Amino acid sequence: MSFEGKVVFVTGAAQGMGRAIVAHFGALGAKVVAADINAAAAGEAVAALGERGLALSCNVAEPASVRAAFDAVGERFGRVDVVVNSAGIGSVDAFLDTPDDNWTRVVGVNLTGTFLCCREGARLMQKSGTKGAIINVSSTAAMSGEGPSHYCASKAGVMGLTRSIARELAASGIRVNTIVPGPTNTPMMAGIPDEWMQSMIKAIPLGRMCEPEEIARVAAFLASDDASFITGQNIAVNGGMAFI
Ligand SMILES: NC(=O)c1ccc[n+]([C@@H]2O[C@H](COP(=O)([O-])OP(=O)(O)OC[C@H]3O[C@@H](n4cnc5c(N)ncnc54)[C@H](O)[C@@H]3O)[C@@H](O)[C@H]2O)c1
Repeated sequence: MSFEGKVVFVTGAAQGMGRAIVAHFGALGAKVVAADINAAAAGEAVAALGERGLALSCNVAEPASVRAAFDAVGERFGRVDVVVNSAGIGSVDAFLDTPDDNWTRVVGVNLTGTFLCCREGARLMQKSGTKGAIINVSSTAAMSGEGPSHYCASKAGVMGLTRSIARELAASGIRVNTIVPGPTNTPMMAGIPDEWMQSMIKAIPLGRMCEPEEIARVAAFLASDDASFITGQNIAVNGGMAFI
């Protein structure tokens, strides 16, 4: 599989899945844009790629920031072939105690951020006549409800968004799919108490957490021509813990 000559835009690129996705597409020959609110770490993520890498400071929840990021991609590379929306946040709030600001923040990054990057990415694809691919990232929690209300709602929203725009963008040859990861070994999971972690692992038939590189390989498959007839789908990567 080669992505030579292709431009891949990754959000949440500074760490975790996003960073593994940057490294994998980079190894497959792509030009990779690492977009993150943490610009310094995004810079580290593309450091090894030289001229093929571009790090951008981008807050996906802010329309102007997302527009500026895709403008910068257009100026530097003239196109975008693949958009991977990995930026996401959580917040541990019991439903009845959820502060308004936390609801707005989590939905703002996870759902509105995904919407904004899909829209601006698809606009740039259309402008340059690119039959591209968009990959969004949901969570098993959206299906099971095992998570805070804002997180589960935002991640379920990503699935609906994907299906709607997959239908609409199909006419332009743009495919849109959702990866639905189970528990994955990233900094997001680092703060989880060991007891909780062990009970989560017990629920996974393959007996371990997912590694971020395993998500990256699925993202590359979905972005490639090997997945040319797959659009609007949820692709579960969860070691068998749930079926969608
Ligand atoms: N780790 C898991 O177990 C797991 C499971 C299911 C789904 N997910 C989802 O996968 C995605 C990646 O998760 P991860 O574990 O790599 O998380 P992570 O916390 O390790 O990394 C998330 C990245 O997103 C960036 N980010 C946060 N807010 C941003 C914003 N407003 N604009 C731009 N960038 C922003 C962070 O700076 C960070 O680099 C997230 O959407 C997460 O919800 C994770």
